Amino acid sequence: MIIKSAVFIKSITKLRDCPNSGAHDFAFIGRSNVGKSSLINMLVNKRQLAKTSGKPGKTQTINYFLINGQWHLVDLPGYGWAGVSKQKKTEWIGFVREYLLKRHNLYCLFILLDIRHPPQSIDLEFIKWAGLEGIPFALIFTKSDKISKNKIDTAVENYKNQLLKEWEKLPDIFVTSSANHSGREELLNFIDKINST
Ligand code: GTP
Ligand code: MG
Repeated sequence: MIIKSAVFIKSITKLRDCPNSGAHDFAFIGRSNVGKSSLINMLVNKRQLAKTSGKPGKTQTINYFLINGQWHLVDLPGYGWAGVSKQKKTEWIGFVREYLLKRHNLYCLFILLDIRHPPQSIDLEFIKWAGLEGIPFALIFTKSDKISKNKIDTAVENYKNQLLKEWEKLPDIFVTSSANHSGREELLNFIDKINST
């Protein structure tokens, strides 16, 4: 798929403020700092469309981007960040949870995982929750530029084995790097395929 245009539409914290154009949503979630905003920028080839930061907790609203005038990329706040008040966390859980459970236009939730870390319970619990709630999701490993090809393969195998302890079928899995653009074509093709069915 060729990205012809990518524009910011709006930032929201309430489900009722989601765009109602009928365009499909493809949303990105995962631990704070895993690389959600960077991945969105890499996919659309724009450096600072989604704001990124070395400091966890940068994205705190649901941010909508319209791609090729046809579908949405949705940047979500990360889970599991430290140094944020309990009230803020509760608010986060409220509006993101509502978005994930009730947004009918959510065609795929990409759950991002840092490929350098072994499976973490916070991610496994989130994956389990999404699966049990029937949210359509796929897994994306990020920051693959930081480790060798061998280590990438081992990390992916390891994760699959962990998932197979609880699930019969594996989700779609992508390996990406926002630094060297690997995985870009595969992800865009995947989105294209969903959009054209
Ligand atoms: P929050 O909005 O805080 O939840 O974080 P986020 O998941 O949106 O992460 P963000 O995209 O802001 O990236 C966090 C940090 O990781 C930044 O310093 C990025 O430059 C870096 N980063 C993200 N993706 C990659 C990648 O693929 N490779 C490398 N080397 N660094 C990355
Ligand atoms: Mg972000």
